[in-house]
Amino acid sequence: MNWMLLVAVIGCGSSCFAASLLPHDQGKNAPPPIDSILQPRQRRDSYNVIDDCMTVTSKDGHFYYKASPKDEMEPGTTCGLYLITDPERQIEIELLHVDVSCEDGGLISVVDGWELNGEFFPSPEDHQLPLDQRVQSECGSHQVMRRYLSSQNAALVQYRVPRLGQGFSLRVNYVKNPQPCNILVEGTSYVYTLSNHGRRLNCSVTTLFPASISLVSLDVGFTNQRRLSRLLSSRRDHLIAHRSTAGEVVHNCEEKDMSDYLQIGGSSGLDTANMLVSDSICGAAREPKASEETIACGITTVRLVSSGRHRNWAQVSIRPAEDEDLSLANFMCPA
Ligand SMILES: *[C@@H]1O[C@H](CO)[C@@H](O)[C@H](O)[C@H]1NC(C)=O
Repeated sequence: MNWMLLVAVIGCGSSCFAASLLPHDQGKNAPPPIDSILQPRQRRDSYNVIDDCMTVTSKDGHFYYKASPKDEMEPGTTCGLYLITDPERQIEIELLHVDVSCEDGGLISVVDGWELNGEFFPSPEDHQLPLDQRVQSECGSHQVMRRYLSSQNAALVQYRVPRLGQGFSLRVNYVKNPQPCNILVEGTSYVYTLSNHGRRLNCSVTTLFPASISLVSLDVGFTNQRRLSRLLSSRRDHLIAHRSTAGEVVHNCEEKDMSDYLQIGGSSGLDTANMLVSDSICGAAREPKASEETIACGITTVRLVSSGRHRNWAQVSIRPAEDEDLSLANFMCPA
């Protein structure tokens, strides 16, 4: 799907600067392939000149923007540098130089996560920081050396430079994340690992495309094997469980009042708090023989809900759904 069409930002109060940054004209064409958007002028220490209003990139090094009459966008349009990297990395952004006049409404904001259509990834519900601390803004003309570190593999720099000749520069670096929780997936098929690292915490993998998902292995809830067996024997009639030599997978765990479970579902926007849940799974199994599930939604999410009482982890295989998968999908988001 053309997810660039999703990009727009709605108001969320005066404290939330990203809110006032409103891209007006971003859905004109199909999105160019990721990374072809930036035309790096190859110099030492990769030096990237930003010349599109919406840039999605995984490049590191220096980024530089200066409002020029050659720009396609109107001066003062709100634009974004969307950064995304490997699941097990986080993004370090160093603002080096800012020259955007405050008087004309110029602004540069560093966002811990992505924002599309007024919705944030990770969902404010699943992020350890409140939203106003995830959006850091400034304007004026000064040399800065401010460093920001995202909590996950996605971050955003939003900017509005109303005066020609003004701009900013920054440096991007990708660093190892020792305990990844929320992961944004932008295009590739992969096996993703979700873990709560023993903590009371919710983590998700979210894709920007309809996806087909299958479980690779899982150990969620039930440190007590007897409790699982009891549950299975007492409620066998209305419990759909897959038995495999390596363990048990229990479905609809959320409805069964389990404290820890893995949700699979989707939404049309980026905020997983609005997701429709197709199934919630718990138990322990290695390579369960459950079939693959296709989520026909613009955004697909696998979310691990953890009470902190268990050391949970799940491995899921996620791939972009093909037309054939979508035609057979039994779970879809309302249009
Ligand atoms: C995790 O998600 C569940 C269900 O959505 C919620 O009840 C719980 O408060 C969340 N936990 C944290 C730490 O946010």
